[in-house]
Amino acid sequence: MDEPVVLVERPAAGVGLVRLNRPRALNALNGPLMDGLMDTLAEMDRDSAIRCMVITGSDRAFAAGADISEMAQATPAEMIEMAFIARWERLRAIRKPVIAAVSGFALGGGCELALACDLIVASESAVFGQPEINLGVIPGAGGTQRLARTVGKALTMEMVLNDRRLTAVEAERFGLVNRVVPTADYLDAAVTLASQIAARAPVAAQAAKDAVNVALETPLAVGLAYERNQFYALFSTEDQKEGMAAFLEKRAPSWQGK
Ligand code: CAA
Repeated sequence: MDEPVVLVERPAAGVGLVRLNRPRALNALNGPLMDGLMDTLAEMDRDSAIRCMVITGSDRAFAAGADISEMAQATPAEMIEMAFIARWERLRAIRKPVIAAVSGFALGGGCELALACDLIVASESAVFGQPEINLGVIPGAGGTQRLARTVGKALTMEMVLNDRRLTAVEAERFGLVNRVVPTADYLDAAVTLASQIAARAPVAAQAAKDAVNVALETPLAVGLAYERNQFYALFSTEDQKEGMAAFLEKRAPSWQGK
């Protein structure tokens, strides 16, 4: 029987873990793998017992990009028809925080998948790059856009024009990843971070994620107005009443997620 293309675990309270599982192809992101990943994330997003998610691969490869064998002979119409990139949009619709736990190759679509997550924990052996130029194409799932917004124009140009690859330490220095940890520890570190986020006020966590993402897409005045409205809206939650009462009563809050 074929191995499942994604493996699902619950490594800690409130945390859902999805592992990309095509190790022989270095987790090349083919249609079944991307559909499996997106279906799993959507399911976890609906599951009230999960408050933060982690996506990981293997120690050798987070993902070595979109599956080249799947697209090598395709026409533009076929690429559209198989929703080659369009299926990635489902990740943008996930409301709960998503952490990428990255080790080894994060190339092409693998780098773009990590960039589409909310936080990145990297192992010392992680390598980030957009080598699509070597295939006669450009990044298609956010590489030029998210990298430019994250590490700036100069470095992005080098990465997409000349296959400049970043070590984990460089990626941390340029603000692409949140932290770098020894390869033996990166998954535990990501799960610990996810547990900490999962223990926080859930509705506020979703609003915080949403508002930060809006910052990347709107002029400042619009973003500030959006943030202010979200802030006011949270006063309709029980968690806001509980959080502020707990502070005033000098006790730990008990979040209800409503
Ligand atoms: N698609 C399909 N198969 C891939 C793959 C990919 N992106 N990356 C690796 N594989 C497969 C290899 O074909 C090989 O399979 P076989 O054993 O059946 O030959 C297996 O994974 C192991 O790979 P290598 O033997 O090449 O391993 P290596 O250690 O020598 O090299 C590597 C590792 C540097 C990551 C190299 O595999 C590589 O350069 N891969 C392609 C990276 C790439 O170009 N990614 C961008 C893809 S395009 C894209 O992602 C578009 C987008 O924006 C969405």
